[in-house]
Amino acid sequence: MKLSVKTQDITNVKCDVLIVNLFDGVKTPGGATGVVDKALGGAIAKVIKNKEFTGKKGTTAVVDGTGKIGAGRVVIVGLGKQEEFDLDCVRLATAKSLCKARAMKAKSVVTIMHGAGTGGLYPADTAAAIAEGALLGLYKFDKYVSKKKDDEAEKINELYICEIDKGKTAAIRKGLKLGQELAESANMARDLINEPPNVLNAAGLARHARKLGKRKNLSVRIYNKKEIRAMKMEAFLGVNKGSRNDPFFITIEYKGAPKVKKTMGIVGKGITFDSGGLSLKPSSAMDTMKSDMSGAAAVLGTMDAISRIAPKVNVTGVIATTDNMPGGGAQCIGDIVRASNGKTIEIKNTDAEGRLILADALAWSAKKELNPIIDLATLTGACVVALGTYRTGLFSNDDKLVEKIKNAGAKTGEKYWRLPIDPEYFDAVKTDIADMKNVGDRNAGATTAALFLKEFIGKDTQWAHLDIAGTAFLEKPQGYYIKGGTGVGVRTLATLAMDMF
Ligand code: BES
Ligand code: ZN
Ligand code: ZN
Repeated sequence: MKLSVKTQDITNVKCDVLIVNLFDGVKTPGGATGVVDKALGGAIAKVIKNKEFTGKKGTTAVVDGTGKIGAGRVVIVGLGKQEEFDLDCVRLATAKSLCKARAMKAKSVVTIMHGAGTGGLYPADTAAAIAEGALLGLYKFDKYVSKKKDDEAEKINELYICEIDKGKTAAIRKGLKLGQELAESANMARDLINEPPNVLNAAGLARHARKLGKRKNLSVRIYNKKEIRAMKMEAFLGVNKGSRNDPFFITIEYKGAPKVKKTMGIVGKGITFDSGGLSLKPSSAMDTMKSDMSGAAAVLGTMDAISRIAPKVNVTGVIATTDNMPGGGAQCIGDIVRASNGKTIEIKNTDAEGRLILADALAWSAKKELNPIIDLATLTGACVVALGTYRTGLFSNDDKLVEKIKNAGAKTGEKYWRLPIDPEYFDAVKTDIADMKNVGDRNAGATTAALFLKEFIGKDTQWAHLDIAGTAFLEKPQGYYIKGGTGVGVRTLATLAMDMF
């Protein structure tokens, strides 16, 4: 889809669908919506008066252009309550109105800048949110559907922002470009998450990473099983023992500030299918476990975005990937493995495999002195119980890093909630016969998992762990996301990287 800006009178602009808006409860449309309403002889005001449309957040109504304006039809989208308006409302309004336009078989769509008058938002930010809302909202994963419901007949080719003020067009163009880059990278992560596990195993992820390595500014290294053995990553290898598929360890380097030593590390859990291993999951819990590589997908998506945006910072992406299967060679309950940093782990539940592969990935990152290190993992059901699907669990040893992540999240509409890592909680993963065990008791499961990970970072590493178990994959649509992978983390971490130094 082509995204651009037009400086034209809104009533003349030619398109299949024109998108205007209304705040909740507003009776007389103002701003650009008011101008269009006037040109249409009060058609929008009439829909409001008839209570067919109230401006409720995310709802839409359609009126015909009747030849009185350049647009064939007009979609009015509700922005919700004016006092609650923010960039994420712009994303939602854009997503909802464009889905409506797509269903109306529109090819060319023009939108106004939502909230430009009263919203108090910067034009570049609004434009970025419009691009994100459009691309994230229209996303579909239908490559395996033989008879597609929406063939070429339901595909929007171009979206223009109509803004009469020429002083804003440069900012709008810049915003559109950034929003498009962020959203396309998130959608790339979503594609990976949505791929079935028979198509995308560890080798599949590695292949994808290798493809990214063709970019001029990314260098990718892929370590095979033999090399992983040589690196003594026994915790990681233990998880792979029950599988017929080889594991891979992947690193992706971006050096936008070659003279600076400081390099941020982003580390992803890449379990391409989590059966639980010998601690086999019940079938219902396995249902969504192809998404257990969402952390790895987020790392690939973030590196993709960073490579395109090209900020002057250094970032290394790190992925440990395998499936977790209960084959004949599977690791046993009671096994003790030694991670690459020398620490020993007693395996008490093979379904707590994420922390095992991350142990070695974090130890590698610490050894390379990556700092800060941010890991993303669909790590615990406990985090889903605590926070549901709206907020990602955030654990960190550094208040400043927490603020930065929260701020980046507020910009992108990806929400985080900090949970504790007080050292007392570590008692739950103590054992007499190794340095730690890989599960705690029923209490504070997301926290004990985080504290386990903390054992593998450096003494001085600023570290954050994002438990995306609830936010990475949706079983029903939510906001501008359809069912399936969300790509959570990509837009936040790419945004964070842009103002790292
Ligand atoms: N991949 C799961 C966590 C998960 C659960 C992700 C639900 C997404 C949705 C992880 O490997 C796991 O199985 N964790 C166990 C840990 C337990 C055995 C300590 C869990 O949370 O039940
Ligand atoms: Zn598991
Ligand atoms: Zn898992």
